[in-house]
Order: sequence, then structure tokens, then C-alpha cells
Amino acid sequence: MNSRLPCESSRIAIYPGSFDPITNGHLDLIQRGSRLFDRLIVSILRNESKEPLFSAAERIEMVREAAAPYSNVEVDSFDGLLVEHAGDHAATAILRGIRAISDYEYELQMALMNRRLRPEIETLFMMSNEAYSFISSRMVKEVFSLGGNISGLVPPPVEARMRERFSKIKHKGA
Ligand code: PNS
Repeated sequence: MNSRLPCESSRIAIYPGSFDPITNGHLDLIQRGSRLFDRLIVSILRNESKEPLFSAAERIEMVREAAAPYSNVEVDSFDGLLVEHAGDHAATAILRGIRAISDYEYELQMALMNRRLRPEIETLFMMSNEAYSFISSRMVKEVFSLGGNISGLVPPPVEARMRERFSKIKHKGA
């Protein structure tokens, strides 16, 4: 059966985030999450007011490229309430990764708010792979901008795009 066809019993989850840019920690969660659901939709918060390093279109492209090996993973973007977006996709779950106890407070707050808004949508937390538990998009950008090595922390095409983006920023500032 084609798992992409709408089907009452198909298990659909949303994996939301800013993905600015996608890291190997995100990718690990996508891979593991894709085994638990019939369809996993990676949903990128557009939120241009946060002044992301990469535009929504660029982030979508990078996630699509990285998630291409997983046939039941799709990529979308959203603005507004996450639970509304999840409802539009008939998703029954929101997937989030927890790296350390410091993530927990924010994640719990978000999960409880989302539950209040849409009790029928469950938030599921997966523990990050310990190999990636120290990685965040923010830190990857900071280390890279200061000349540090980020290989193995992001997919190679993402590293290439970062090189391009930061060299543009440098030239603009020069
Ligand atoms: O990767 P991030 O930046 O930690 O992801 C945060 C995200 C996108 C999951 C969160 O900011 C979000 O869901 N934003 C949409 C607005 C929303 O629904 N807010 C109410 C729940 S707190």
C-alpha cells in the first residue's frame, strides 16, 4: 500500500523546528522518527522576523536534500500555530528532540500549551543520540562564523552553503 495516500489508519507526525540550518542531530531524529510513523512531515517555521541565516526556501531545500533517503519523510513550512498546521495535515503527533535537561523546561511548556490548544495531538519526545546531544543550529553557526571546524556536525551540502553564505556576509562587511 502506498503510505502517502490518505488513509484513516496512517500514522502521521510533524517534526517542527527552525532548521536554520538542519544539523546531523536533526537528521538523526528524522531517521529514527521515520521508523515510527507512516509519514513524517518535517515542518519548517518560516518566521522571517527572527532574521534566520537562511531563507525558508533555502532551509526547505537543505532539509529536502538531507532527508531524501527516507521515502516516508516530507518537508513543508508553516507560519502561525503549530497545532493548526498539524491539524491541517491530519497529524496525530508532534515529534521533538530533547538533548539535555536544559531543553526540558521549554519543551514541556510548549507541549502543554499545544495540548491545551489541541488535546488530540500528542507531543512525543525522543532523546537525541548522545553523539549529537551538544549540537544546536545556533552553536554550529557561531563556531563556523569564528572559523571553527563543523564537519560531521551538519550534512556536507549544508556546510558548503554555510561557507558560501558567510563568505558573502564577510565580503559585504569588508
Ligand atoms: O527549532 P525551534 O526553533 O526550537 O522550534 C520551535 C518551534 C518552531 C517548534 C516553535 O517555535 C513553534 O511551534 N512555533 C509556532 C508557534 C506556536 O505554535 N506557538 C505555540 C506553541 S508554544
